[in-house]
Amino acid sequence: MSILVLGGAGYIGSHAVYQLIDQKSDVVVIDNLQTGHREAIHPEAKFYEGDCRDIEFMRKVFSTESIDSVIHFAANSLVGESMQEPLKYFDNNVHGTQVLLQVMQEYDVKKIVFSSSAATYGEPNSIPITEDIPTNPTNAYGETKLTMEKMMKWCEQAYGIRHVSLRYFNVAGARESGEIGEDHSPETHLIPIILETALGQRSHITVFGDDYDTPDGTCIRDYVHIEDLIHAHILALAYLNNSGKSNIFNLGSNQGFSVKEMIETARKVTNRVIPEKLGERRAGDPSILIASSEKAATILNWHPTKNSIEKIIQDAWNWHLNNPNGFNKDVSNE
Ligand code: UFG
Repeated sequence: MSILVLGGAGYIGSHAVYQLIDQKSDVVVIDNLQTGHREAIHPEAKFYEGDCRDIEFMRKVFSTESIDSVIHFAANSLVGESMQEPLKYFDNNVHGTQVLLQVMQEYDVKKIVFSSSAATYGEPNSIPITEDIPTNPTNAYGETKLTMEKMMKWCEQAYGIRHVSLRYFNVAGARESGEIGEDHSPETHLIPIILETALGQRSHITVFGDDYDTPDGTCIRDYVHIEDLIHAHILALAYLNNSGKSNIFNLGSNQGFSVKEMIETARKVTNRVIPEKLGERRAGDPSILIASSEKAATILNWHPTKNSIEKIIQDAWNWHLNNPNGFNKDVSNE
């Protein structure tokens, strides 16, 4: 029996595939390679290139492979873009999940682990954020993730498909052994942009506002190491395999760091000059997002071991130093 990973060529999905293969699971990957990288797919995974909205393609995969459970990462995930093109997000994220659930129902696959987001909460009214606070997304991306969660809830009632929804906070870092890392185009995330500046690929990092209600005025986020995050998915699969009921868990480190603290730490870790400039606030940025991951600790027995920001930045830095052009090894062909 295999585990199907949708979006297994993306940043988070590819790290999941590597860890699943580390623990000797059989892995089938589906990815349309719109944002993922062929080079990020583990060579031992069985790869199908295609789109989860294409029901005939999906049926072909489910009828060829013996699929036991699904981990679903395939989605568009840029908050800013989701405000410009919300229908793209509803189509790929919501409709894609609808087709996936339809095919899971047809082929009697009853377990799914799903990548959700802290963006489902919007601007939280209390910190740290627990799973029971109201969900009130402030962007279309978060709305699609919440809609996907709701769709799964109804599919459980109707078809008995059990799900674990994992609400990520700020995922960062890279696989410790260095084969894969983060490579988005365009890059919008803080740590890769800081490290591209350290490499001299950017002249400076722009700090998006220093007038927030935080000690140094810059936004505070909860950074979680990608390998710890993926371990939670493996625990979530085990939970479903042990007949666990559908559930939602936050995945963060329970600690917050400001944008300025992240830049300062990156200067120490890389020992490079990282010029910064102050810019305008970025629309839609909440001032403080910090998770309570107590529930994942208690129920999934999830205890992150790599969540110092030095470690997260160090592993990301190793990847950036060794792969300054990401997965594109031959930039002369650009
Ligand atoms: N930031 C800068 N300069 C930059 C880039 C980011 O100051 O060049 C700041 C942002 O304003 C924010 C912090 O760094 O305060 C982190 O920004 P990221 O873009 O790295 O991450 P976000 O917190 O915006 O987004 C993350 C995930 C999203 C998810 C969201 C949930 O990347 O997918 O958390 O709130 F939707």
